[in-house]
Amino acid sequence: MTDDRAPSAPAADGFPPAPGSHDPETLRRRALDALLSARARTATLTDSVEDGELTAQHSPLMSPLVWDLAHIGNQEEQWLLRAVGGRQALRPEIDGLYDAFEHPRSARPSLPLLAPAEARTYASDVRGRALDILEAAPLHEGGRPLERAGFAFGMIAQHEQQHDETMLITHQLRSGPAALTAPAPPDPTDAGSLPGEVLVPAGPFTMGTSAEPWALDNERPAHRREVAAFHLDTSPVTCGAYQLFMADGGYTDPRWWAPEGWDMVREHGLTAPLFWHRDAGQWLRRRFGVTEPVPEDEPVLHVSWYEADAYARWAGRRLPTESEWEKAARHDPATGRSLRYPWGDTDPTPEHANLGQRHLRPARAGAYPAGRAPSGAGQLIGDVWEWTSSDFLPYPGFVAFPYREYSDVFFGPGHKVLRGGSFAVDQVACRGTFRNWDLPIRRQIFSGFRTARDA
Ligand code: AVJ
Ligand code: FE
Repeated sequence: MTDDRAPSAPAADGFPPAPGSHDPETLRRRALDALLSARARTATLTDSVEDGELTAQHSPLMSPLVWDLAHIGNQEEQWLLRAVGGRQALRPEIDGLYDAFEHPRSARPSLPLLAPAEARTYASDVRGRALDILEAAPLHEGGRPLERAGFAFGMIAQHEQQHDETMLITHQLRSGPAALTAPAPPDPTDAGSLPGEVLVPAGPFTMGTSAEPWALDNERPAHRREVAAFHLDTSPVTCGAYQLFMADGGYTDPRWWAPEGWDMVREHGLTAPLFWHRDAGQWLRRRFGVTEPVPEDEPVLHVSWYEADAYARWAGRRLPTESEWEKAARHDPATGRSLRYPWGDTDPTPEHANLGQRHLRPARAGAYPAGRAPSGAGQLIGDVWEWTSSDFLPYPGFVAFPYREYSDVFFGPGHKVLRGGSFAVDQVACRGTFRNWDLPIRRQIFSGFRTARDA
């Protein structure tokens, strides 16, 4: 297995940026599109329930939806209006309420939060001013770092989309009838003929990026890594495969579990992924207000890192390291370069990946043949976030930018890295280099996994 802690020196990415992606007018248009589509998604998530549901706490794990809404506006005000635009604070007294480090999620409902109508007005006042600032901002190379290539605008669009995923988790946790609907994702075309795993031969590859204009601090800089040969599952582990682990006593045998994972199983009486229950000899799940049979060939969702790790050990395998995951997703042996996405350097389309809350579930294993990587692995982008075995650590040469509280304060052994994005994340906040992280006990997130073994 490759040692994630021993990367070699920084290197150039070796990929040409997408055509025109450093042209200020192209970036301005992209930033505008990204901000508008994030707001459309936020509106769907917050207009689909009554005001009483916006202020309610649906789970102590989550903020009330109205907190996310005003926090989205407040971050935009801090970065686009104040830092980029040099404007005075619109409502200086509310900064503390929407500072994620000042108040834990469980305490947020009892704060004097802006009411739904006020939060909507605030977010839209901020947005109007942000678009004026975007129109006039010099986005050229050599400008101020926050404005260069439209970085701050891209960062704020990503921030809003990340909270849109968080709000979708809150929707999944709320009880009551469905508030959201979406069409089913596409079916696989040739799942039967797919090999179960692919071989990724030994050799170095370029991990991370120095060229992607809106890559966040933790994805930088590009650097070379040595990776030993390994096998990786072609698709994420399915509900059907996971049920074999369950039926074989997976949740009752400490052999498969990390010690803290086994403590979690006993303390909470875990027997299945979150949102599953057994009825008349059949496993059912609740998904956005609907109860339905667990689909056998869909990637398993809502498992903690401990469950993923235990399944892999039961299967005689292991989770991939973060560098193995990224090599399988981006390395192109034909050119030696790392691609922006598994399918190449072009932005995702609906043929490539299940992203952006277009569908409210993962696609079945084997879907999205156009999205496969040169390694042969599929569904690396979209569908489910994939747990890796790796702790969330900075790359060599990491510089916190523009604020330490995005990544830097989370580095360390407490958080495990997830890769590839889920059906709930938008493409602006998902790419081959994008890194997500969470506590190994988390299972309300849209998390699944695939497994690996040494070659
Ligand atoms: C990168 C998803 C772990 O939601 O805690 C949102 C993203 N950071 N606001 C999170 C984030 C600040 C972050 N994750
Ligand atoms: Fe935030």
